[in-house]
Amino acid sequence: MSFTIALAGKGGTGKTTVAALTIRYIIEQLEQSVFGVDADPNASLGTALGVECEKSVSDIREDIIEKRLDFPAGMSKERYIEYSIEECLIEKSKYDLLVMGRPEGPGCYCYVNNLLRKYLDRMGTEYPFVVIDNEAGMEHLSRRTTNRVDLMLVVCEPTVIGTVTAKRIMKLSQQLPLSIKGKVLLFNRVPKEGLDKNIKERMEREDLKPDLLLGFDTEILQASSSGTSLLEISRDNPTYTALSGFLKNHLTVEVASK
Ligand SMILES: Nc1ncnc2c1ncn2[C@@H]1O[C@H](COP(=O)(O)OP(=O)(O)OP(=O)(O)O)[C@@H](O)[C@H]1O
Ligand SMILES: [Mg+2]
Repeated sequence: MSFTIALAGKGGTGKTTVAALTIRYIIEQLEQSVFGVDADPNASLGTALGVECEKSVSDIREDIIEKRLDFPAGMSKERYIEYSIEECLIEKSKYDLLVMGRPEGPGCYCYVNNLLRKYLDRMGTEYPFVVIDNEAGMEHLSRRTTNRVDLMLVVCEPTVIGTVTAKRIMKLSQQLPLSIKGKVLLFNRVPKEGLDKNIKERMEREDLKPDLLLGFDTEILQASSSGTSLLEISRDNPTYTALSGFLKNHLTVEVASK
């Protein structure tokens, strides 16, 4: 059974950055293979990893629904969907990446979605780790990808609004039809002086505790400006080092649920 890590949080907090660095940690330090899933319609995990994606799962779905595809003779629709997903898969030597693309429209066919979900579930089990990058919010998570998450990384900005959103996401995650074994709260782009007093007070009142603080990192910002892959930033980058130290404990031991 693979260990599934999912990203959640408000827009622009650093989910994709943390997803890409998590993939790097798994391949570089755990030396394991990983299945990356970009579930954000505004796909960007590929860019963070320095790869380009030409086709997404939503393109397959739309092709099937609009019957733009001619099913090859003797091939079932189910087999054809498998074959098409394999074509979408970006295969690198140490990780594979699948881009989900746009969410299904209102008139969408359950049959196609069920086949896609079934295939994705099966694919997920073929890797020791699965990392799912998501769009902001998390309502769509159970619909679009998996319903079993071992570790949810909630990424949050170091502001009062960020704290309020983190609380909301933590609460919402309990109401979704998802099995989430462990949940952790990461503050990203934290200034050198640490979290502001107001944020700390608010966190205490809300009964929230940050599990990890990641600082503001000029190398990461520079990488996103120049389009450099996060797999290529320095190995001793402070954000990567801090995240790796954290993941070392959380990906190997049972995660206590909050
Ligand atoms: N620790 C950091 N220090 C400095 N810049 C950062 C840090 N983490 C992320 N960034 C930058 O912040 C921007 C937003 O990051 P990212 O795309 O990872 O956020 P996101 O939560 O995935 O956004 P979205 O909700 O749009 O998908 C990027 O330009 C990224 O390089
Ligand atoms: Mg993102």
